[in-house]
Amino acid sequence: MSDTKINQLLAELTLEEKAMLCTGKDFWTLHGIERLSLPSIMVTDGPHGLRKQAGEGDHVGLNAAVKATCFPTASGLAASWNTKLVEEMGVALGKECRAEDVSVLLGPGTNIKRNPLGGRNFEYFSEDPLLAGDMSAAWIKGVQSQGVGTSLKHYAVNNHEHCRMTVDAVVDQRTLREIYLPAFEKAVKKTQPWTVMCSYNKVNGTYAAEHKQLLDDILVKEWGFEGIIVTDWGANNDRVEGVKNGQHLEMPSSGDMNTKKIIAAVENGQLTMAELDKSVARVLALILKSQASLESDKVEADLNAHHELAARIAEETCVLLKNDGLLPVAPGKKVAVIGALANSTRYQGAGSSKINPFKLEQPLDEIKKQFGDDNVSYTAGYHLNDKEDSAEIAKAIELAKQADVVFLFAGLTPKYESEGFDRQHLNLPQVQLDLIAALGEQLNKTVVVLQNGAPVVLPFVEKVPAILEAYLGGQAGASAVAKVLSGEVNPSGKLAETFPANLDDVPSQPYFPGTTKQVQYREAIWVGYRYFDTTKTKALFPFGHGLSYTNFTYYHLTLLSGDKASFNENDSIKLQITITNTGNKAGAEVVQCYVGQKSSSQPRPAKELKAFEKVFLEPGESKEIEFELDYRAFAYWDEAQSSWVAESDEYQIHIGSSVEDIRDTATVFLNTTVAKKQPNAALKAYFEPEKRDFNDAAFTALLGYDIPAPTPITPYTVNSTLGEIANEPLGKPLYEGMLSVFTQMMGGDQNDSAAEADRLMAESMVADMPLRNLPVFNSQQYSEDQILQLIASLNNKETRI
Ligand code: BGC
Repeated sequence: MSDTKINQLLAELTLEEKAMLCTGKDFWTLHGIERLSLPSIMVTDGPHGLRKQAGEGDHVGLNAAVKATCFPTASGLAASWNTKLVEEMGVALGKECRAEDVSVLLGPGTNIKRNPLGGRNFEYFSEDPLLAGDMSAAWIKGVQSQGVGTSLKHYAVNNHEHCRMTVDAVVDQRTLREIYLPAFEKAVKKTQPWTVMCSYNKVNGTYAAEHKQLLDDILVKEWGFEGIIVTDWGANNDRVEGVKNGQHLEMPSSGDMNTKKIIAAVENGQLTMAELDKSVARVLALILKSQASLESDKVEADLNAHHELAARIAEETCVLLKNDGLLPVAPGKKVAVIGALANSTRYQGAGSSKINPFKLEQPLDEIKKQFGDDNVSYTAGYHLNDKEDSAEIAKAIELAKQADVVFLFAGLTPKYESEGFDRQHLNLPQVQLDLIAALGEQLNKTVVVLQNGAPVVLPFVEKVPAILEAYLGGQAGASAVAKVLSGEVNPSGKLAETFPANLDDVPSQPYFPGTTKQVQYREAIWVGYRYFDTTKTKALFPFGHGLSYTNFTYYHLTLLSGDKASFNENDSIKLQITITNTGNKAGAEVVQCYVGQKSSSQPRPAKELKAFEKVFLEPGESKEIEFELDYRAFAYWDEAQSSWVAESDEYQIHIGSSVEDIRDTATVFLNTTVAKKQPNAALKAYFEPEKRDFNDAAFTALLGYDIPAPTPITPYTVNSTLGEIANEPLGKPLYEGMLSVFTQMMGGDQNDSAAEADRLMAESMVADMPLRNLPVFNSQQYSEDQILQLIASLNNKETRI
């Protein structure tokens, strides 16, 4: 956008208009300025489809949205490891936005999956920052190619739901740089998203929405981000601090509450006009970019074509976890389909990303299409509302006995995973486990098909010959599953996250999700496969794992740059490997390239993913794949120097089909300008992650300062939550009032699992809501002054019990 145009506009705007432009007009739109022909633009969710609420906007979007295409959610998308496909999906999303005059689609969800219990893991890509970054970049590139903006979210360190609006994530700088920031960094540097959404939580004591280091220093100055930084909905804490520290736009509208504060701050010198103009200039640039799209020819979205695309994508998101040869199932076999999820599919997650699909396939129908109506019988086997029913189980056993093969649909129903709250365990619903156990020897001919957004533990893994992870496959996920079962589609998905054998094996588990006020990231860099692989902890299924109906052989790994290299920031190492499809079916392999340092002075994972490529091969076909690894691929973050550092050392470059299935390894000696430091003895616990002894002294050494004490619950402040004041006589009515508003808004039949998820979400959202947000979300009822008075009264001992 031309600076001249922006400067002209800045010169014409009044202070009031400038302040107004930096906060939303309502839930989904920004202010426009009619006299300057600046339109009011719409931004909306995201990320695996367009969720444009046609009527009134509400916080969790339970009011119906326009019909749109529901694509697979991010867990599945990442399992495709196919950036081209994700980009195509982005193009389709961009078109649907254009057709509905939406200027910014709120996604992608880029946060790292620190722990499989994270309630929103279904909406995030991976436990690995490289993969999450590449997927995010592909999604953004696709959407933005259509003249529609994106919102890379939630920046940063927002890795669970519990008390997400106020919790302080305490994390050391190296872990921040190596695990939690690089996916954002990659997406920003590669694609310049129009907006970045800052998260609700605090990071090391400061709200993300006013975090100078994260916003201005790193995102804008270091990575060169040119777009606007928008708050997550209700993430603003102190508006003036936000503007001063690089937050450009507050969403949703806070009425004139914060506009007035900005005006006053400029008038009393707390904020300079130049500081305000920085934000305004960026908001103006966004409006002007959006205006260009809004004023050009209307784009028609071909929803049927998008359905076909959604099906194609879903085919690549299916991960064949186990196959002793039962799959694929030949036509003509008698198939028993068991499991209520086969007829009432779980295809997306609950919360702000919930799409209103214009069409929805069911697995049972699609299986009938593949195997013929006459060959397929069905029974529910269990109830989605978890009601025990032995008659259903008995019916399922009878049906299984008469069949050649059983397709058993299991998975998480909405109440087990949703935005707003975290999961409590990794188990499938007990009614499903009971059914599976009761099937006894029928399990020998059973394929378990899983529909869930995040890992589950599978106590029956040894008892069934085949398991297919279908993730949350979107509106066309069912036909993809049916085609994989019949062999029409050769599965090519690979896990983008570790499936632990036990929850207790997950290193963050003892500190997850922390208390209401603080979460300590004590496990540091030991996230996901970095921990499992280094400590040789057996996973149920490892990162990168996924089977195919064909075989791939890896030949001739060659280091094109030789095995000794003098190496600095501008160099790279090239290597090549040949992959051959040695089976008799066309298929695709995800070739993964990991790097490990031989003897670092720092705690480092045995392997870290540094590159990958998905390659499609006909039977007998071979392809040469080349990887190029730059300095950063060998480096760790050195906080003392505030930079990436690759030590002179020997490094292993592993090429594999999963992190555990390494097919070949090359060794290279890099001669860099960085000599090894003396290992820091205080970090011993981090050199020995298998001991899981991330004690106070070790974490203190890692942080470089004393572990901060969590904010006390009392005295109450604007950041106290409704849950925290719920036991106070003055707080209780407020909590209950809000709960009833939210519960009514979500409504529904309480016996239904989806309605129960909505109820649970309402409860946690109300409990976690900071008092400062009451005037934002319910301004008719609560003014800021009333809230401040309430806090004063709550803190006045006389009125407390
Ligand atoms: C979510 C965001 C979402 C926004 C608007 C928030 O609660 O965290 O991901 O984009 O609401 O619906």
